[in-house]
Amino acid sequence: MEIVIVPDAAAGGELIATAIAELLTGKPDALVGVATGSTPLPIYQALAAKVRAGALDVSRARICQLDEYVGLPKGHPESYRSVVLREVLEPLGISESAFLGPDGSASDIAAAATAYDHSLAEAGGVDLQLLGIGTDGHIGFNEPCSSLASRTRIKTLTEQTRVDNARFFDSLDEVPHHVITQGIGTILEARHLVLLATGEAKAEAVAQAVEGPLSAFVPASALQLHPHATVVVDEAAATRLKLTDYFRATYAAKPAWQSL
Ligand code: F6R
Repeated sequence: MEIVIVPDAAAGGELIATAIAELLTGKPDALVGVATGSTPLPIYQALAAKVRAGALDVSRARICQLDEYVGLPKGHPESYRSVVLREVLEPLGISESAFLGPDGSASDIAAAATAYDHSLAEAGGVDLQLLGIGTDGHIGFNEPCSSLASRTRIKTLTEQTRVDNARFFDSLDEVPHHVITQGIGTILEARHLVLLATGEAKAEAVAQAVEGPLSAFVPASALQLHPHATVVVDEAAATRLKLTDYFRATYAAKPAWQSL
């Protein structure tokens, strides 16, 4: 894993947006997996700025979703499909036809989850998957004790995650209990994993994922299994890491031509 410590969330967003821009320059129809929540917003803002400045062409880019709430009606403003349309596709000018996501309102959720897994494979696999991390160490919505080999499926959110996400709803009661999430095995198939973590609330989860043992109890530790995983953290999210000097020195010594 490569650990990159940046001064703040905006710097993390710019760094990752630059990596996505480089990917799309080499492969204009790359499939980019996006995450929702607050953390990746600086990435999407930096990407939109590049598009507005004419520095990035996303006309052939394809976007896919990491997870989706189960049971929210189609078009609900907090469904992750709506969030991705609002935060990613519209600002970048990418058509909904270039977007893949699981159907959280399907009558057969198990079938919808399996179908989504297949659609990712049929699309040629994910080139770069953005990830956030939960305070409990989840990636996607693979909560603690998720199988490290899991495929896209329904999961029950922990109370901690529902409380963390209640800020997007009028009350905790409105936060769904279930989600469809790419499994850890599914996530590990992406060719490049890029996790962004910002703020002190994520510091413990980051330390366990990066420096702790590989464990289903900390799903983000599965990144240790991936041959090309990048973890970008701001100073606040880096406070519990032990090897910060080493991580800073490694990144500083990285050849300028080598991107994330
Ligand atoms: C969202 C997702 C989650 C979030 C995580 C952090 O699609 O998969 O794993 O990335 O819950 O959320 P924020 O960024 O809001 O702290």
